[in-house]
Amino acid sequence: MAPDQSQLESALAAVEDPELGLGLGDLGLLRSVRARRRRVHVEVALPVAAWPGIEELAERIHRAALAVPGVEEVDLEYDVMSEHERAGLRRRLRAGMEGERASGEEADDGHGHGHDGHGHQHGPALPTFLAPESKTRVIGVSSGKGGVGKSTVTVNLAVALAQAGHSVGLLDADVYGFSVPKMLGTDHDPVIIGDIVIPTSARGVRCLSMGFFVPDDQPVIWRGPMLHKAIQQFLTDAYWGEPDFVLVDMPPGTGDVALTLAEVMSKAEIVVVTTPQPAAQRVAQRSAFAARRLKLSVRGVIENMSWFTGDDGTRYELFGAGGGATLAADLGVPLLGQVPLVNAVRLGGDEGRPVTAVDPESETAQAFRAIADKLASLGPARVYRKELTLR
Ligand SMILES: Nc1ncnc2c1ncn2[C@@H]1O[C@H](COP(=O)(O)OP(=O)(O)OP(=O)(O)O)[C@@H](O)[C@H]1O
Ligand SMILES: [Mg+2]
Repeated sequence: MAPDQSQLESALAAVEDPELGLGLGDLGLLRSVRARRRRVHVEVALPVAAWPGIEELAERIHRAALAVPGVEEVDLEYDVMSEHERAGLRRRLRAGMEGERASGEEADDGHGHGHDGHGHQHGPALPTFLAPESKTRVIGVSSGKGGVGKSTVTVNLAVALAQAGHSVGLLDADVYGFSVPKMLGTDHDPVIIGDIVIPTSARGVRCLSMGFFVPDDQPVIWRGPMLHKAIQQFLTDAYWGEPDFVLVDMPPGTGDVALTLAEVMSKAEIVVVTTPQPAAQRVAQRSAFAARRLKLSVRGVIENMSWFTGDDGTRYELFGAGGGATLAADLGVPLLGQVPLVNAVRLGGDEGRPVTAVDPESETAQAFRAIADKLASLGPARVYRKELTLR
């Protein structure tokens, strides 16, 4: 029996491109599908020649084609999109990027500067996922002070959420101390299609970071306006789509960037990372209060470096105990979990092999999975501020 052409076409159109997280059919990447007896010829048009993730894409295409009754062999041919095709792709991505336009003036005074016949054409467009009605939960991971493992937690939590079947974006907003691409183990820079930045996909997580745009050895001396601009571009010029979660590695403190984020991402929920010692907990508390002043909803506390287990199985509480629980109680939010101090976690971060991805059965990976489940089960926060402003 020869394979059914329409069944074949719909099976292949549904294959998700790993970099964009959308179906080949919707993206216009599937140029042709032809069956000759039990052999199928598939032609795919790639957005750019060096399109990331094509091994994975090829595997998915083979799997999908071979699952159609009657198919025994698959020939896969790649080409690069024509200008015309690429323009079509850009339009499709743009359509999925722009929710509402920022309409600060209207929200502020209601005198209708926006009602000039062009609808909401003022200010840059906000991405779909930030719209209050979008299903995306934006989770800002913050900490009172540096070095408590904020980035480590963010990266592993993102991987754990992806493993649980959620679609996950990860925005490294720590523009001073970006570390996410390295920790996640990304192997390529974001691809740029026309004026659209495609977040880099790694370990099932799509991420963007200043780290992609600034060489490692260059000191980062940014001033407020530049930071503001960078964050804005990460939000407005990047194709995020509408994932289930966008995790944000927050910059320290309540400086310019935090303010920008709070302003733009009014729906963001905050989780606070702390270590067990009382001093750290007090500093973390300040950051939580700051988040609340910015009207962001604090959802929970994650305690990191909670204990170290010796070779003999004894747990040592190197940094004291109880900081996470105390902070959670003070803030009236749940302690989402405790993550032990494990050398493999540090090594995993240094080598770009997050422990949750490479050693999923380990105690730490299980801790991150439990935290991810808890966070997911909390459900979205209520949105108190509906105005969307981007200045
Ligand atoms: N649970 C853990 N076990 C072992 N090492 C850890 C753990 N959590 C974090 N580390 C290590 O501690 C160091 C600091 O962690 P990380 O960079 O994630 O912290 P941070 O709060 O993001 O720091 P910064 O303020 O510099 O951004 C890193 O070397 C990291 O690998
Ligand atoms: Mg960090």
